[in-house]
Amino acid sequence: MKMQIAVLVSGGGTNLQALIDAQGNTLTSGEIAVVISGNPNAYALQRAQNAHIATEIVEKKRCGSQEAFEAAIEAVLCRYKIDVIVLAGFMTILSENFTKKHPGRILNIHPSLIPSFCGEGFYGLRVHEAALRRGVKVTGATVHFVNEIPDGGQIIAQKAVDVLPGDTPESLQKRVMEQAEWILLPQATEAVCAALQEETL
Ligand code: GRF
Repeated sequence: MKMQIAVLVSGGGTNLQALIDAQGNTLTSGEIAVVISGNPNAYALQRAQNAHIATEIVEKKRCGSQEAFEAAIEAVLCRYKIDVIVLAGFMTILSENFTKKHPGRILNIHPSLIPSFCGEGFYGLRVHEAALRRGVKVTGATVHFVNEIPDGGQIIAQKAVDVLPGDTPESLQKRVMEQAEWILLPQATEAVCAALQEETL
């Protein structure tokens, strides 16, 4: 049985697209059963629908509290019998109450080489702005397990990307996505699904 994957998104969903495109080639031990969006207007929802993948919207502001929000996500995970959760540009931090229920089963992609430029406040273009400000010559992306510390869980995979003269946060973000994130996330998701499949044989 393939591991059942939920991808949690909030935005454009290019990492979701990389996972969709990897199904049947890089990603063979798992399949995306549902895409859960924290934002009803996320383009990621359209990408899921185009690929005939079920979608669910869980908005924190409609749930009223972190607890209710996480309970609503849990209900969806349960309904789709989810084994693995992939955070792909999901903008809400999940509490320890949630993460401790799924040890070794929640993955996140972060657009830097952790432990550089990570933790609270480091998301989106801010990560690349900080890398350029510091003057690093190499950055990259990291896929890691999610625990109660933002970007603090065990590292699964990393890929380095050169910073080039004249880079802007936007040009660097694009290169990190193209050369690292979209390759690394499907590979790491496959590795985790394959390992879990072994365990359940
Ligand atoms: C990516 O840079 C990812 O690393 C970060 O959020 C961004 C999401 O982009 N966690 P997308 O929605 O996958 O296009």
